[in-house]
Amino acid sequence: MIKNSLRLMAQLRTIKTPPMAFNSTYALMYKNYGDPLEVVEKVDVTSSVSLDKPLEPNQVLIQYIASTINPSDINTIQGTYAIKPSLPAVGGNEGVAKVLKTGSQVTNLKPEDWVIPARPGSGTWRTHAITSEGDLMLIDNELDLPAAVQLNVNPPTAYRMLKDYGNLKPGDCVIQNGSNSAVGLLVIQLCKIWGYKTINVVRARPDPKETEKLFNSLKDLGADHVVTEDDLRNREVMDKIWSSGTPKPILALNCISGENATNCFRYLGDNGVMVTYGAMSKKPLTLPAGPFIFKHLISTGFWVTKWKKEHAGKPEYTEMTQNLVNLFKEGKLQAPKVIPFKFEDYKEAIRKATAPYVEGKVILTP
Ligand SMILES: NC(=O)c1ccc[n+]([C@@H]2O[C@H](COP(=O)([O-])OP(=O)(O)OC[C@H]3O[C@@H](n4cnc5c(N)ncnc54)[C@H](OP(=O)(O)O)[C@@H]3O)[C@@H](O)[C@H]2O)c1
Repeated sequence: MIKNSLRLMAQLRTIKTPPMAFNSTYALMYKNYGDPLEVVEKVDVTSSVSLDKPLEPNQVLIQYIASTINPSDINTIQGTYAIKPSLPAVGGNEGVAKVLKTGSQVTNLKPEDWVIPARPGSGTWRTHAITSEGDLMLIDNELDLPAAVQLNVNPPTAYRMLKDYGNLKPGDCVIQNGSNSAVGLLVIQLCKIWGYKTINVVRARPDPKETEKLFNSLKDLGADHVVTEDDLRNREVMDKIWSSGTPKPILALNCISGENATNCFRYLGDNGVMVTYGAMSKKPLTLPAGPFIFKHLISTGFWVTKWKKEHAGKPEYTEMTQNLVNLFKEGKLQAPKVIPFKFEDYKEAIRKATAPYVEGKVILTP
């Protein structure tokens, strides 16, 4: 891991100085939906994207610095996600790129600026792209790479769910599952910043020492309580939480579904809300009727893509992005650790990104 981080730092230093020319450009593309390890291939796209290609007045040539592999990218390639790009398509939905060249009528971007995609499904697993100015969002190029590359999806998801549901006040409690996921780590930190207590559910590791290490890493980030999926069914463990002064949660954040979510839901206090934003267990969401009825509980869903579409250009969108950037720059919010893989090692990267027991966010770098 130390070797990876050193490699990433070295890459960053070279990436900040753009090459004057490049000979070939590549994209990780798929022609059919299916297993990403089988359908994704590295394709030379130099004929459509090159430094010498004249740009339309509103176009921008960008070079990707890094792109994430998120669970939704995998589901999109499998053909099981809400977004189904027309094929052939380039994988990826999130990444950070540097502007190399701009068309004559581009007003808000200049070479060396850092940009992220302004629209979902733009295909970020590529070395370079020519795209229109309106499809890019300028970001602060003083952000560090782990924050910049992950700015688009998981931080806004954590931020919005905590802001928009449960009407939380300092001292309130949030229970979440998948707590070591990228979203989960951001939820823990935002809750700490905003004064909410957290109960964090994780999957136990086969080695209990690894589970303990995971518990400690989440507590170091600000988690008040960490429990395993099994602990959720253990009255003694859960009673210790309530007797420590932590109130019953007002908000449950669910990215796992299945039995895990059912158990989180049971612990909600009166009028509590469960927000489902993922189903990593691939199991259905089943809610127990008793607590649902007698505590007036609410169950709802959240999709950040829908939120962004509905709030594009609105002040709350700009305010959220600015707040998140500030929190990252001030060091109050740490981006989830990144695990870099070279672009050409994409199969290894996909394997790592889909393996159980997450250790960080897999990113593709040049
Ligand atoms: N709705 C939205 O707008 C939105 C936005 C962002 C993300 N998401 C969703 O949120 C989820 C997390 O995304 P992420 O990028 O933060 O993920 P991530 O960093 O890749 O982490 C995945 C998490 O899922 C857990 N997990 C995987 N399979 C599991 C299983 N069978 N049972 C229990 N836990 C399991 C992992 O636990 P282990 O470490 O134990 O494997 C890990 O905590 C994904 O489903 C993603 O699609 C939704």
